[in-house]
Amino acid sequence: MRPQLDFEKCQSNPFSVLFHPSNEMSETFEAESNLEKREFELIRQSQDRPLITVKTLSNDLENLGVKKGMTLLVHSSLSSIGWVCGGAAAVVLALEQVLGDEGTLVMPTMSGDLSDPSLWKHPPVPEKWWQQIRDATPPFLPDLTPTRVMGAIPECFRKQTGTIRSNHPQVSFAARGKNAGFVAGSHSLEFSLGEGSPLARVYDLRGSVLLLGVGHANNTSMHLAEYRANYPVKRTVKSGAPVLVNGGRQWVVFEDINIDDSDFAVMGADFFRDTRLVATGDIGLAKAHIMPQRELVDYSAKWIERNRS
Ligand SMILES: CC(C)(COP(=O)(O)OP(=O)(O)OC[C@H]1O[C@@H](n2cnc3c(N)ncnc32)[C@H](O)[C@@H]1OP(=O)(O)O)[C@@H](O)C(=O)NCCC(=O)NCCS
Repeated sequence: MRPQLDFEKCQSNPFSVLFHPSNEMSETFEAESNLEKREFELIRQSQDRPLITVKTLSNDLENLGVKKGMTLLVHSSLSSIGWVCGGAAAVVLALEQVLGDEGTLVMPTMSGDLSDPSLWKHPPVPEKWWQQIRDATPPFLPDLTPTRVMGAIPECFRKQTGTIRSNHPQVSFAARGKNAGFVAGSHSLEFSLGEGSPLARVYDLRGSVLLLGVGHANNTSMHLAEYRANYPVKRTVKSGAPVLVNGGRQWVVFEDINIDDSDFAVMGADFFRDTRLVATGDIGLAKAHIMPQRELVDYSAKWIERNRS
């Protein structure tokens, strides 16, 4: 008999749900936190299909078009996949298994909180703190600084022995595999997602982009197109971040452009419609899209020139 899940709220605890694994079993599970409740919801969504494991993920990745030897830049949402046996580590291992020794896995490991607090909006901080934050934020340390809003999968990947994290305080990338040094070994502080960035190295290698449970709004490679395109509202701006200089912490100010991802979802949909170069499939319960990064960047640069005033 298939196990039954009984999803009830417990009155004494706002996070609680009661779990009756089967009609025969008397045990109950009561979630004690929001985190447990969200994971339980994933288990509930996934219970009617085969368990999602490194093996099933590898099969799904191969069916989508991930191949041995590829350079693959992955943007991801773990929870979109359903309940994964082994969580983020299982996803990383599946990706590495399919890419093989000749492949290179790349993920964004950005730390947007190492930036000028006067620009923060999600959330903002009181103005009286701005200078104190500039003076006190620890510098970027590739092996320590956590990622921000990149997800559990890149956060897991960046800590794996042998993974290289590029040395940019705000927009680093992690890479592992054959061409990891070429992709993440250098990263210019200025114009941070442009020609001196890992994005441009993925372009050089004719890599691919995998959107795993996320949309084109997260398709960072389109930023490289912004640097390459000429359009009227493009500006040079100043950016700031705490870094280590000769072993000492310094707040450095550097030049960048006013990047803007607000039209990336539309640009991605147009790329799909006009080129048919995006393959779509399921990875676990997630919708996933894979596309060649060079064609994406070239298309996006022309799209930006046509559409941005
Ligand atoms: C922000 C973002 C990471 C959120 O995705 P998410 O799936 O909610 O979060 P994560 O990938 O961190 O996964 C953590 C979730 O996995 C869930 N989880 C826990 N165990 C799990 C398991 N075994 N299997 C599957 N999911 C599990 C947890 O519920 C957790 O959710 P919670 O933090 O709400 O409790 C995603 O929407 C996104 O934008 N990803 C792309 C980031 C990127 O590349 N950006 C580039 C911009 S330039």
